[in-house]
Amino acid sequence: MFQTRITKMFGIKYPIIQGAMMWLSRAEMVAAVANAGGLGIMASLTFPTAKELRQEIRKAKSLTDKPFAVNITLLPTLRPRSFEEYIATAIEEEVSIIETAGRNPRQYMKQLRDGGVKVMHKVASVKAAKTAERVGVDAVTIVGFEEGGNPGMDDVTTMILVPRTVDELEIPVIAGGGIGDGRGFMAALSLGAEGVLMGTRFMLSQECPLHPSIKQRLLQASEKDTLMIMRSINNPERVVTTKFAQNVLEMEAKGTTLEELLPMIDGLRQKRALDKGEADQAMIPCGQVIGLIDDLPTIKEIIDGIIKEARAIGKRLS
Ligand SMILES: Cc1cc2nc3c(=O)[nH]c(=O)nc-3n(C[C@H](O)[C@H](O)[C@H](O)COP(=O)(O)O)c2cc1C
Repeated sequence: MFQTRITKMFGIKYPIIQGAMMWLSRAEMVAAVANAGGLGIMASLTFPTAKELRQEIRKAKSLTDKPFAVNITLLPTLRPRSFEEYIATAIEEEVSIIETAGRNPRQYMKQLRDGGVKVMHKVASVKAAKTAERVGVDAVTIVGFEEGGNPGMDDVTTMILVPRTVDELEIPVIAGGGIGDGRGFMAALSLGAEGVLMGTRFMLSQECPLHPSIKQRLLQASEKDTLMIMRSINNPERVVTTKFAQNVLEMEAKGTTLEELLPMIDGLRQKRALDKGEADQAMIPCGQVIGLIDDLPTIKEIIDGIIKEARAIGKRLS
């Protein structure tokens, strides 16, 4: 049950994927997802140099013999990185799947194809999904308005985007944004997705290296406790509602400049806050699905729980 083109393509047991999470989805998390039968995605830009990414990939390989993926988020960074170098490192270390996100991966496709990896690309619109298929990726993840992170500018929900994308594409589609349990998993498969990608659910796991006080704060949050910042710079980010996020929104409403915003959205500021548990000092990406999450299980418990619930739903419906 639940075998799809995605499980076959990636060599995984269940079509359940842990979305890349900057600063958080490092070797331990990624390996825990792999060992539980899903696909973990390492957020490569967490590591300031390709050398450190290489060490982390080796660490993940020491923790699992199952496949995992490396994410390359192709967005401008305050501290310039060579995306080619990060891709080359993942290929040299024999990572079998690379996820691109953030913008059209066309200029990297030759390197990716020559490297023999499977390429999954994450988008937030049907148009971008079609472009990704055209430039030759193997699978597309479509994320809706609910998602934690960057849901794009269109404000269209997962419920609509998944079937729209499935109707337009030949290659397999993975659904992301707002999925956190067996009900969401079954809904996504019903909409035609061949896998699900979840960030927020895995953020609230034992293995996620997020400060315990922020985990506790998120456990208290409801589906109404997220908001979108950075729309003014065309890069909206869904984050948990904090004094910090409200402050950024107010700055944007007053017409702040990019120069004034940059220190607020600086990645190192975010890393410090996530490590130290200072929820009101930086933005904390988080999806609306937080309203469905009130426990802190292990990653294996999350994945086993989803499959168990999905099987029960299958029985009930038949
Ligand atoms: C804390 C956090 C950090 C994230 N960092 C990244 C990132 O660096 N690159 C990326 O492509 N997506 C990132 N995302 C988005 C996730 O990979 C995934 O698309 C999203 O969480 C799915 O929606 P959900 O949160 O509703 O499950 C992040 C999400 C969260 C919650």
